[in-house]
Amino acid sequence: MVELSSGRGIRLVCGFRGSILFAILSALLLFASPFRLVADDAAPDVDSVVTLLDLVLDADENTARKCLNVLTTHVQNRSLPDERVQSLKKELGERLNEIVADDANSLRFDAALLTAAWGDANGLKVVRGEAMKATSQEQQLAAFQALVAAKDKETIAIARRLLSQEKVEPEFQGNLIATLGRYVDPSVAALLLEQIPKLSPDVAPKAIEVLSQRPLWSGPLLKAIAAKQIPAESLNVNQLRRVASFQDEAIQKQFKEIYGTIREGRNPNREQVFYKMRDVLKGTPGDPVQGQAVFTKICAQCHKIYGEGADVGPDITRNGRNNWDQLLMNVFDPSAVIGPGYQARILAVDDGRVLTGLPVEESDTQVILKIQGGKREIIPRDQIEEYKTSEVSLMPDELEKQLTPQQLADLFAFLALDQPPGSPDAKLLNGAPEPQTR
Ligand code: HEC
Repeated sequence: MVELSSGRGIRLVCGFRGSILFAILSALLLFASPFRLVADDAAPDVDSVVTLLDLVLDADENTARKCLNVLTTHVQNRSLPDERVQSLKKELGERLNEIVADDANSLRFDAALLTAAWGDANGLKVVRGEAMKATSQEQQLAAFQALVAAKDKETIAIARRLLSQEKVEPEFQGNLIATLGRYVDPSVAALLLEQIPKLSPDVAPKAIEVLSQRPLWSGPLLKAIAAKQIPAESLNVNQLRRVASFQDEAIQKQFKEIYGTIREGRNPNREQVFYKMRDVLKGTPGDPVQGQAVFTKICAQCHKIYGEGADVGPDITRNGRNNWDQLLMNVFDPSAVIGPGYQARILAVDDGRVLTGLPVEESDTQVILKIQGGKREIIPRDQIEEYKTSEVSLMPDELEKQLTPQQLADLFAFLALDQPPGSPDAKLLNGAPEPQTR
């Protein structure tokens, strides 16, 4: 027999084993309540969430942690109506503040994440402290997300320190940069432009992706390109199309000066590029080992190969490389045929961002997009200002413009093999020229 009593005087007595009850409670919170919480007429459900949380806070640490994290995600994503957040804050605030004030409580950090998300000063203080502690990069990232969601004024200073801390993982840096995309402040551009030269080749494109999501940051980005601090080829055609679409006179002018005009739809001349590149590659020997590095920098932002890279486009270990001509067509004329399930979307968020990505979910309540670099963006429907299907592939065409002929030759020497370079039984794709080491 288990007896549970909540701080609000509600008692549950039941004959299940505790863990089963908690599973039911957490399932309720995880699956049912968030939906009902978002629905318009669900005022009483704040009550049931509060009651459930009250119960688990007393009884089961792991379940309590999960429940707190679900609520935190909703508050951070602004997927709950404001008045509902306010009533949760009113009902739960005091209880959570006690936990946050208690150094010895093992739920302190999780409770602080939630109270920080609704802007509580003590929660923010604990979260800032955790962000700077090098306990685990996972915890640092969770803390950093909370700071961004709360628009904390220390965000930029903390981001700078986290990006340049010792033994920092490229994946952590990438996640941190993607999270900064939600921090609507001009200082993000200054920070990222200062960091880009120091970032590794596979992380720098993530900063470019974020900078090209808002007019606020694309202006400074174009200025840095005009001043030759950042190479003009750092932007791929998706990013160029996005920046070119911003209705801002200064951006339009600078963009034209650097890039001229950019095509919206598929370029009908891409087939010619395919023939031309086939000839060029036949006459330019490439090194597959160098090519792997080119792949990591450009292609791994969206593709996995041999188990490495982001999961946005198809895994090309086995797909799209049946023979040499097919590979070249796929890379040089990607919008000729767009595979089913790979129709890209362009989405304008009410906070000023424009995102390009592939849909993972398109429900009545929210859209989830996979973005170049691998980040999944969850956008509640009521924050979407414009949503359309792109007529071109998310796979950028004109990739050859981002690379030197030698880098291209190296990349294709790498892609021409059916196994990683150096594997003793790696075979050449049908029709591919023999690789040669430079
Ligand atoms: C911004 C994301 C993105 C980048 C960067 C990117 N791709 Fe793609 N790629 C895609 C998507 C999405 C598809 C599938 C869409 C389609 O069929 O048009 C695709 C399709 C492909 C295919 C065909 C796969 C199949 O299943 O038929 C190949 C091969 C490929 N890409 C190679 C590359 C190479 C090589 C690079 C680097 C030079 C690269 N891609 C860079 C997103 C990307």
